[in-house]
Amino acid sequence: MNDTQAYELLKRKGQTHILDFFDSLTVEEQKHLLAQVERIDWSVIDAAMHKDEPACRGKIEPLDAIEAAEIEEKKERFHSLGIQAIREKKVGCVLLAGGQGTRLGFDKPKGMLNIGINRNLYLFEMLISNLTKNTDAAGVTVPLYIMTSDKNNQDTVTFFKEHDYFGYPKEDIIFFVQEMVPCTDFNGKILMENPSTICMSPNGNGGWYTSMQNSGVLEDVKKRGLEWINVFSVDNVLQQIADPVFIGATIDSGCVSGAKVVKKAAFDERVGVLCLEDKRPSIVEYYEMTEEMASSRKQNGDLTYGFGVTLNYLFRVDMLNAMLGANMPLHIAEKKIPYMDKDGNYIQPDRPNGYKFETLVLDMVHMSDSCIPCEVVREKEFAPIKNASGVDSLESARKLLSANGVAL
Ligand code: UTP
Repeated sequence: MNDTQAYELLKRKGQTHILDFFDSLTVEEQKHLLAQVERIDWSVIDAAMHKDEPACRGKIEPLDAIEAAEIEEKKERFHSLGIQAIREKKVGCVLLAGGQGTRLGFDKPKGMLNIGINRNLYLFEMLISNLTKNTDAAGVTVPLYIMTSDKNNQDTVTFFKEHDYFGYPKEDIIFFVQEMVPCTDFNGKILMENPSTICMSPNGNGGWYTSMQNSGVLEDVKKRGLEWINVFSVDNVLQQIADPVFIGATIDSGCVSGAKVVKKAAFDERVGVLCLEDKRPSIVEYYEMTEEMASSRKQNGDLTYGFGVTLNYLFRVDMLNAMLGANMPLHIAEKKIPYMDKDGNYIQPDRPNGYKFETLVLDMVHMSDSCIPCEVVREKEFAPIKNASGVDSLESARKLLSANGVAL
């Protein structure tokens, strides 16, 4: 794309300010900016204009989970089904590590956070250790695909290399990079980082399978003949990965996906709840629930909508393949986005000043025909590090790790 073509396109889109400093740029910078303009996904920007249209939800009903007690009872059967699938090399894992972790405020990829106290214990290392426990028990390794973004790929790959992949076989760790989308101000105008660079942010964790396809990594999934993928977040230090019991329970249920869930700590806990929407599995966010719905109870006194998702899912690969190319809902978040103002000054806002656009993995659950919620015991398997302090922080995660016998 040349500068005239870029100008014409941006004029049609009402975004010519992107080229305001074009004449003062070096040839290299101009090329860089034009390449960015060419790659913009305009469907995302158009969505900013329709942001006030209310999202319509279907009929919400409860979806029963297999609770921890039932899992305990059937553990042997689930375990042997899961171990068999792992041994038959049908299972792969995807670590979602492309997020920016802005709430934590750590300036490196979140997985590089040192969670140890008397020794170094990195978040990535802990996740590999959790995975290795299960692959050792099965006697085989599983491929681990790691999604990064343009912002953190280099640091992440180097970190793994420097630590010799934390003892995991190098050939089973495969990195891929997710796509980026522009950020806009509240009027839908694309923000600039500097005269030659558009403000971009990772496009959310919902595009992971599409990014695997775009980056060519899906070929590896096909070559290995994987049938199930366990996708999980970077920040839950206690989660089990490639957990044979979870895999076995999902296979046994006949569902095409499974979700690790925890019993809500209180009716108004801020977690997404797995339920049915128009008879399909769906996750309703805490802010979408009326108080009546959130506090409603079953006859036995348990909360009707009592299980929160933990961002650890199992998906059947044929279902993921069928979903490729489908449109996913776009979530628009108000964020603090550092930007360059019209006079060329770099501004670091202290309150939200624009939108970031993301698709979310939880929407893939609604696109599945069926999903089985499997309860895991919160104190044993749920210790996310989201915030700098307080709830779901490094401090709370360390307490839970210690309670589970992890030496820090
Ligand atoms: P979060 O919703 O916690 O987002 O991601 P985040 O970007 O890490 O953190 P905040 O909101 O800025 O504080 C949940 C999981 O999804 C991954 C994250 O790395 C984390 O494992 N993720 C999120 C991606 O891989 N890509 C994204 O674009 C966003």
